[in-house]
Amino acid sequence: KEIIVGIDIGGTTTKFGLVDHQGNVIFQSSVNTQNPDFREFLNDLEEAIWAGINSVDPTLKIRGIGVGAPNASYYTGTIEQAVNLPWKGVPIVKYMQEDFNVPVVATNDANAAAMGEAIYGHAKKMNDFVVITLGTGLGSGIVTNGKLVHGHQGFAAELGHVTVNPNGRQCGCGRKGCLETYVSATGIKRTIFKLLADYTSDSELRDISFNDLSTKMITEIAERGDFVAQKSFEYTGKILGQKLADTVAHLDPEAIFILGGLSQAGKHIFEPTIRHMEANLMPIYKNKVNVLPSGLGNQTAPILGASSLIVDYFKQNEF
Ligand code: BGC
Ligand code: NA
Ligand code: ZN
Repeated sequence: KEIIVGIDIGGTTTKFGLVDHQGNVIFQSSVNTQNPDFREFLNDLEEAIWAGINSVDPTLKIRGIGVGAPNASYYTGTIEQAVNLPWKGVPIVKYMQEDFNVPVVATNDANAAAMGEAIYGHAKKMNDFVVITLGTGLGSGIVTNGKLVHGHQGFAAELGHVTVNPNGRQCGCGRKGCLETYVSATGIKRTIFKLLADYTSDSELRDISFNDLSTKMITEIAERGDFVAQKSFEYTGKILGQKLADTVAHLDPEAIFILGGLSQAGKHIFEPTIRHMEANLMPIYKNKVNVLPSGLGNQTAPILGASSLIVDYFKQNEF
């Protein structure tokens, strides 16, 4: 039996899974990303993959390995210099190909998520759509005319780093006022601390430290009617909605998928985002663009996204 290994490298943890022919994740686990020694990190990951295979069925054959990571280039197979990863310029595809001797494909994590929606999710029949991932940062992936957009260097669709305010919040990329400093799991927390400073109103949020605060907590507190929590979603949705209206003007997508931790807030984030997007759309686009959650489970979406790179690889290489 053959499986594909899907790997999603994130700032704190690297999730991986074994995916069968039907797109079922038959095993999944994770390793710690925060190891400054990349070769050591990779050894831990590879050992964990072999341990997973041995625990499921030692005779499983690996068909290929797909890797999604911030700032990974599809063309060079290298993770260049992601702001939240401890390494720079690591040729992950070359190393993994040497170690496993199977096809290895890497691309940007959000681009992989877009491929996952196209192959396994709700975008199976869509030629034009955009995926936005709201995690530690904001990632995006674009499918246009039925093809994932890679760009000249493989770095297309860095929507997290378009400017909202040139004098705005400091971004990890060195610039100021990037979209992800407002719209991401981290961005909404920065908004909350700003709101708590600006308003004197009572809020449950005052008792929680920045590091302890999670999107889940913000959602629950908003549900109890907390003014600051509700306002933080409205503010985040406003900025995202305005930028999505620009994205629609660029690409005329059929749908925009919103994935990742912050999308778990459901209507709290979707409602203001859609309202502000619609308010900013040119008339030709109004009520035409679906803003949707992932068609894949939130836990498995990044793994399926990464594994879909190998499905796509074999599609392109069949003869
Ligand atoms: C990075 C992107 C990545 C996104 C989500 C951004 O800060 O620049 O490459 O897709 O975070 O991880
Ligand atoms: Na991208
Ligand atoms: Zn930035």
